[in-house]
Amino acid sequence: MIFSNYLEVSKTLKPSQQIRMMIIGANGQLGTDLVDHFKTQYDLICLTENDIDVSDIQSVTRALDTHQPSIIINTAAFHKVDVCEKQPVRSFEVNSLGVKYLAQCSQKIHAKLVHISTDYVFDGKKQSPYIEDDHPHPLNIYGLTKLAGEYLLSNEMENYLILRVSGIYGRHRCIGKGGNFINSMMRQVRAGNEIRVVSDEILTPTSTVEICRQLDVMLKHHLKGLYHVTNEGHCSWYEFAQKIFDILGMHVVVKPVPVSFFPTSVRRPTYSVLENHKLKALKLNIMKNWDIALEAFVSSVDVEEL
Ligand SMILES: NC(=O)c1ccc[n+]([C@@H]2O[C@H](COP(=O)([O-])OP(=O)(O)OC[C@H]3O[C@@H](n4cnc5c(N)ncnc54)[C@H](OP(=O)(O)O)[C@@H]3O)[C@@H](O)[C@H]2O)c1
Repeated sequence: MIFSNYLEVSKTLKPSQQIRMMIIGANGQLGTDLVDHFKTQYDLICLTENDIDVSDIQSVTRALDTHQPSIIINTAAFHKVDVCEKQPVRSFEVNSLGVKYLAQCSQKIHAKLVHISTDYVFDGKKQSPYIEDDHPHPLNIYGLTKLAGEYLLSNEMENYLILRVSGIYGRHRCIGKGGNFINSMMRQVRAGNEIRVVSDEILTPTSTVEICRQLDVMLKHHLKGLYHVTNEGHCSWYEFAQKIFDILGMHVVVKPVPVSFFPTSVRRPTYSVLENHKLKALKLNIMKNWDIALEAFVSSVDVEEL
């Protein structure tokens, strides 16, 4: 094996299952579940940042030329929103140029590129669910560089999938952000803090396991292009927090506060609900309602893990 830290998970595959899939960011929150989901179906090449730096064209070329995957899933991102504001160049290198390099190299080896994007490409002014054709207008550097990544990718190749996801949570903590919202709530409870959560920012919390299942369906149907892939319905962060404690049977007082309660220089959309419009039109949408998906997730993990 070329890469020292690479996780090899496909030794037991049958010959019919030997389509090679490369997962970039395989140790991340979404990447870990992608590995779990696809390990019995594909010959997986699982890369972490120690194996590939998407912002370095030579590193990308080396990895793709060496492994010659047929499908590449890119979960890599520079996505701590406040840090992106302070480091716009690095944000552009990873979230935009990195995606362009992956697209160029994927095109060269005739591979399909699956890329993960975000609800933060929108400004939230619509106040009703965004569909794929809605005009993006990011409010911050993170959203802007992710949108540039989408454009650079679609400009380079045709055999791609872009999945815009939102508010994701999974068993493995989000590395880039130091944990997801559920981890953050549990940390605050354990620290004995009063729990105050924003009630005027609306989103759709989305389970990584559900994204994996939906992507599986999309790959089997050979879909191409840009898709919104979130759980169904929506809630405020405050309602999300309440639901977490409800499901866990914990009696925690959660106080609703306005966004202005936590002053920050970073602008974020106060409404970033996505509609899986194209998947629904194709009758391929299998994403559950956010609260049902959350219940399934919380009951599948040990509370100590959260
Ligand atoms: N988290 C959310 O709520 C959310 C919402 C909307 C969209 N998204 C998008 O969803 C995707 C997955 O998010 P996640 O929560 O799974 O993130 P994560 O846990 O931070 O995982 C990101 C992965 O990318 C790797 N990575 C970072 N920079 C890299 C680089 N330059 N080259 C190669 N690999 C690099 C990280 O590796 P190391 O750990 O080794 O550095 C990590 O494995 C991202 O594209 C993000 O923009 C996330």
